[in-house]
Amino acid sequence: MTEPNEQTTELGGLVAEVARMSAAERAEHEAEVAEAVAPDRDMQVEVGQTLLQLDDVTLKFGGLTALDSVSFGIRRGEILGLIGPNGAGKTTCFNVMTGVYRPTSGRVLLEDKPLGKSSRHRITQLGIARTFQNIRLFDEMTALENVVVGADARAKTSVLGALLRLPRHHHEERQSVERAMALLEFVGIADRAADKAKNLPYGYQRRLEIARALATEPKLLCLDEPAAGFNPAEKEELMELIRRIRSDGYTVLLIEHDMKLVMGVTDRIVVLEFGKKIAEGLPAQIRENPAVIAAYLGVPDDDAA
Ligand SMILES: Nc1ncnc2c1ncn2[C@@H]1O[C@H](COP(=O)(O)OP(=O)(O)OP(=O)(O)O)[C@@H](O)[C@H]1O
Ligand SMILES: [Mg+2]
Repeated sequence: MTEPNEQTTELGGLVAEVARMSAAERAEHEAEVAEAVAPDRDMQVEVGQTLLQLDDVTLKFGGLTALDSVSFGIRRGEILGLIGPNGAGKTTCFNVMTGVYRPTSGRVLLEDKPLGKSSRHRITQLGIARTFQNIRLFDEMTALENVVVGADARAKTSVLGALLRLPRHHHEERQSVERAMALLEFVGIADRAADKAKNLPYGYQRRLEIARALATEPKLLCLDEPAAGFNPAEKEELMELIRRIRSDGYTVLLIEHDMKLVMGVTDRIVVLEFGKKIAEGLPAQIRENPAVIAAYLGVPDDDAA
């Protein structure tokens, strides 16, 4: 499949090396990986302060109001859950925050600055990254390449430049490959770094999407049902990864249907129904909220996934 080259040989060596490590060496190595993955961004807001704000956002598709005067804030350093029945407007929220759609009215502010008419690419550079409900990867590229391309969305020089091996790109290229490897290891799929994305198992593809989003060193990472199609054990592992992502210094917005999971991993939760925010609060408050219970009544967990 993939031609053995300098990159893949180096990679095989690394995987074997990690396998040989003692527990103590491994812990140290994992700390180094986490350090390499940690965001290196200048941020205007302190931990706990509002990083992103939706301010009275309405989005209409013809006669359908997908988002109806929705306002909520995401605080730096938190894991915020965004939940609601099918068609509630969760993915649309992501689309509005990442410049896929512009609000019909209202504003989205990142660090107090309105995103306005910023392009998707610009919003990535400003620091919002996302994964997709339906996986979107470059199928014919290796896992490693998919992540390097993610990093390129932020880098000063292009992948093209790096591929042409212009001397001034060389250093940056090497850095982005090293960071990409660290990211693959961080999400737990480094053993398949040299495989084409299309040949990876489904669970690996979901994790690769997360690695690629993290490659842009986002201020805010938005995950759209990252555990969809996972069994309970895989879901638990994914939640563990999300917790590690947050401990590494990222802020996370999580769309997830599985209530048990959402309650277990989030700090706060926002609930949408028919495009309206119907509740916002701590997981324990949301669990007891009559409007939320009513919204979910008759929707078994399995159907909602
Ligand atoms: N591009 C579009 N054109 C027209 N209607 C749309 C478009 N995108 C979304 N909608 C509609 O907006 C509403 C909200 O959709 P959205 O995908 O945000 O829901 P969701 O909460 O993510 O649901 P799910 O849990 O099923 O993923 C739905 O009624 C959907 O049909
Ligand atoms: Mg959705």
